Amino acid sequence: MKDQLQKFIESIGPDSIAIIPAAHEARRSYDTEYKFRQDSDFAYLTGFPEPDAIAVIDPASKKPYTLYVRPRDPEMETWYGRRHGVEGAEKNYNADKAFSIDKFQGELAKLIDGHEKLYYRFGVDEKLDLQILAYLSGQRQRRLKTAYPPHTIMDPTILIHEMRLHKTPDEVELMQKAATISAEAHVLAMKATRPGMNEFQIESLIEAYMRENGASGVAYNSIIGGGDNATILHYVENNRPLNDGDLLLVDAGAEYEGYAADITRTFPVNGRYSKAQREVYDVVLDVQLQCIEATKTGNTVKGRQEFSIELLTEGMKKLGLLKGKTKDLIRKKEYMKYYMHGVGHYLGMDVHDAGRYFTDQTAKNSRPFAPGMVLTVEPGLYIPPNDKSAPSKYRGIGIRIEDDVLVTEDGNRNLTAAVPKDPGEIEALMAR
Ligand code: GLY
Ligand code: MN
Ligand code: MN
Repeated sequence: MKDQLQKFIESIGPDSIAIIPAAHEARRSYDTEYKFRQDSDFAYLTGFPEPDAIAVIDPASKKPYTLYVRPRDPEMETWYGRRHGVEGAEKNYNADKAFSIDKFQGELAKLIDGHEKLYYRFGVDEKLDLQILAYLSGQRQRRLKTAYPPHTIMDPTILIHEMRLHKTPDEVELMQKAATISAEAHVLAMKATRPGMNEFQIESLIEAYMRENGASGVAYNSIIGGGDNATILHYVENNRPLNDGDLLLVDAGAEYEGYAADITRTFPVNGRYSKAQREVYDVVLDVQLQCIEATKTGNTVKGRQEFSIELLTEGMKKLGLLKGKTKDLIRKKEYMKYYMHGVGHYLGMDVHDAGRYFTDQTAKNSRPFAPGMVLTVEPGLYIPPNDKSAPSKYRGIGIRIEDDVLVTEDGNRNLTAAVPKDPGEIEALMAR
């Protein structure tokens, strides 16, 4: 059993039962599916890689961990791939007991009755929601002599996500691996980029490198934005030519053994930043370095966000994008015209990872950074191409610089430091 599952069992306590479903395959077109990606919470607790499984966790039982899985089926396996089956779930994934998923619904009452609390997240898996609701309403119509259905239903993700927020050393190792593969892919892209290429060539280069080096693929759709495509935050069409004199924004990260990296660099297509591009770049880089510094214990998520807004607003004034008192520009949210996203997010199994950003239910108290958290640091400036109020030399420039940072006892460690971001270093690399 994974340590994570052991810890979850201890935290829900003996009067509870938890039902945690795996993901299902998703249809892509007619009769083909997207490549399967396991649900992060399910993977975190069980490690079981197949769709359509359900974990039932019963802490009071001598055998607390049951998996319901797709049964072995020679014909299905010939067509669609190997299955671990009931035996494999016990042998390879250390389930105390395993059964065919076909048995699950019929055993629901036997499984759940007698526990005070049911840990189950409604609203994710509609089919399972209906099975559990049918069980609950069915039990209410019966006169129960031996055991009652639970009177409290709790969302287990609060507990699981708190655990996921604080990475163990083993998790950090996997995240470093995802980060290293991604960093190398970015360096490769910088070296290869030339005017006349297409965005999709850079995309394919990066993603091929990730796969070649053991990543399961990308952690999110790569953003390869040349010229003013860089001012579209989630630009994923990646099908335009790269022009001499433009910048290229590359936001791409690998997924390795279920863990994500998330890196952005913005570099000149022809290998040399123009003066105007450098002016904007230097502002963003300076803010990024200071915000990395600020990603440490003693600070909060909100404190860091406000810090980034302050610094970038100062920078916008310096560039002539905004005029007025910094305090007023912030109060009136004028800065949002050019900086409209957060300075970073938790990173882990999901690119925008699990974990609360506030310590209280009313979302008033921002969370302090703590060792084991991994966060991105990704300030940016995006000047729309048609923005008449911006100096014309800056119009259409979009710049983001993003690294992945692990909070440590005495500061932090940048997992993605291997990709250059100093403009001189980038130019030197591209000149080779
Ligand atoms: N690549 C998504 C993000 O930076 O949040
Ligand atoms: Mn990103
Ligand atoms: Mn990010």
